[in-house]
Amino acid sequence: MKKDLTIRVAGEGGEGVISTGDMITQACARAGLEVYTSKTFPAEIKGGYARYQVRTSRQKLTNPGDGFDVLCAFNGEAFEMSRHRLVAGTVLVYDCPGDFTPEIPAGVVAYPVPMSEAAKEMRNPRAKNMVALGALSVLFNIPENSLREVIVTKFKRKGEEIVQGNLTAFEKGRELAATLIKTDGYLVDASGTAKDVIVLSGNQAVGLGALIAGVDVFSAYPITPATEIANYVSRHLPKRGGTLIQAEDEIASISQVLGASYAGKKSMTATSGPGLALMGEMLGMAFMSELPCVVVDVQRGGPSTGLPTKHEQSDLFLAIHGGHGDAGRIVLSVEDVEDCIAMTVTAFNLAEKYQCPVILLSDGSLAFSTQTVPTPNPDSFPLVNRERWNGEGTYHRYALTASGISPMADPGTPGGAHIATGIEHGENGQPCYTPVNHEAMQAKRFGKLKTVIADVAPAEVDGEVGDKNTSDIGIIAWGSTIGVVREAITRLRAEGIRVKGFYPKLLHPLPVSQFEAFGATCSRLLLPEVNFQGQLAHFVRAETSLRPTSFPLCGGLPFTPAMIVNRVKEMLS
Ligand code: COA
Repeated sequence: MKKDLTIRVAGEGGEGVISTGDMITQACARAGLEVYTSKTFPAEIKGGYARYQVRTSRQKLTNPGDGFDVLCAFNGEAFEMSRHRLVAGTVLVYDCPGDFTPEIPAGVVAYPVPMSEAAKEMRNPRAKNMVALGALSVLFNIPENSLREVIVTKFKRKGEEIVQGNLTAFEKGRELAATLIKTDGYLVDASGTAKDVIVLSGNQAVGLGALIAGVDVFSAYPITPATEIANYVSRHLPKRGGTLIQAEDEIASISQVLGASYAGKKSMTATSGPGLALMGEMLGMAFMSELPCVVVDVQRGGPSTGLPTKHEQSDLFLAIHGGHGDAGRIVLSVEDVEDCIAMTVTAFNLAEKYQCPVILLSDGSLAFSTQTVPTPNPDSFPLVNRERWNGEGTYHRYALTASGISPMADPGTPGGAHIATGIEHGENGQPCYTPVNHEAMQAKRFGKLKTVIADVAPAEVDGEVGDKNTSDIGIIAWGSTIGVVREAITRLRAEGIRVKGFYPKLLHPLPVSQFEAFGATCSRLLLPEVNFQGQLAHFVRAETSLRPTSFPLCGGLPFTPAMIVNRVKEMLS
């Protein structure tokens, strides 16, 4: 018996595909189920193929899975785009009569539902998706009362007429499905009760983490797929006296972030690859002037405009080395929605302690995924604030200290006036170009990062440490690929294959000794990552003695567990 059920809803952007999937998600979460969703938007602003996939289970879910069990196709394009995964054992629910007549592959159970026709008969064509939702709730036991509640919640701001129209369409869909003879075996296990969880997207979780960390100023320029972070923070930051600015571009936003940091505020921006590329010079300014700041990069398909709504992990080279000169920074990455909360708090704590830029790498898959997350307790996250001058003696902003970290002084502090500058400077902040000083100041700025590795939880080893003889394959993964590898390892172990995982979150400075320790217990190493050049593999080869087999993927979509399983078996055969 499958332990989980995956439903994919697909159709034309504007037909309410995303809303339909989101409502199924909410209803399943209210039934105490784990959910892991993914969605794809069209690059066009209106129209184009939209898809929403929700995987539900009683067990913890760490990725969207290999495919789907049920496809609900609103149109012919949705059928064609998923046709290759409509294999024996899957189910198709489709609009009939609609704009297509599907050839039903052998072994696929098909349920025709007159979604468009029923909606038109009700003179409410927009409600086509609600007819579909009603049919799905009957066919797959999606909790109907929860669905009725979420329909009201979702549409009440659009007025009672819309709410009632959609509820009527929902009931119509249920009636239509009741006439069908169910021959498949898929049912949502709705026997549970709601847990103390929230359903959040990766972007919303980054925003929540920033609020928990105490962000004061958020300046950003909208860019897919990062914009939702600002949207989320904007709803909460002003309530606590914080400031959110939509800047005129990314250079302005990072500059405003640094200005706010100089003024003593915890500040951040969120962007995607193209925006991070524009921030290079100011990231150097942040390192040179030792200003704490957090820059979230939600990676998308690159280079250039690339694939704005698709997934990649291809900004690691940029995150670590973007910008001229020897410009240091800390680079972190996140695995899943829950991690987005915790790692954003960690990013702020590190920025405040080490007075430097911290880049947090999320990705398109996470941005658009929603997951059930145990409701976080904000008080359970220890917070770090920048070291501030105690007002004694003469103040030198860049005083050489044993740790390399020099106390900061907010503007207006008596005796604390200083210049924060991008020009090379002496301990007092005044310009100074001597070779001795530049050497000393670079040694200071890089020296303070030497304790970062100890300040971040060590990379997780998934499986017993063992020794070379106990583990055939070690899989190194980062970002949301970790969740895919977790499931692949579970499947491989079930087949008796000795394999374990290594999941670093701190990517720069690279925790070399942790990589070496893990590599020493594996006979072979595989490093899957969603970019063309194998970017983390490049750094692992450059900075450690390890020689992992790079497994790059760049199709704008994430790995699936099956892809990892197959690749490991290839290595072993
Ligand atoms: N009755 C009334 N309204 C309904 C409805 C119904 N039965 N079903 C959905 N809607 C509304 C939704 O509430 C939503 O309205 P809102 O935007 O005010 O919340 C709207 O119709 C869209 O529905 P939704 O389900 O959210 O999305 P969709 O599946 O129709 O897909 C998108 C539309 C999301 C693809 C499209 O709106 C979009 O975002 N395009 C931009 C994509 C993009 O960012 N491209 C990259 C640019 S760089």
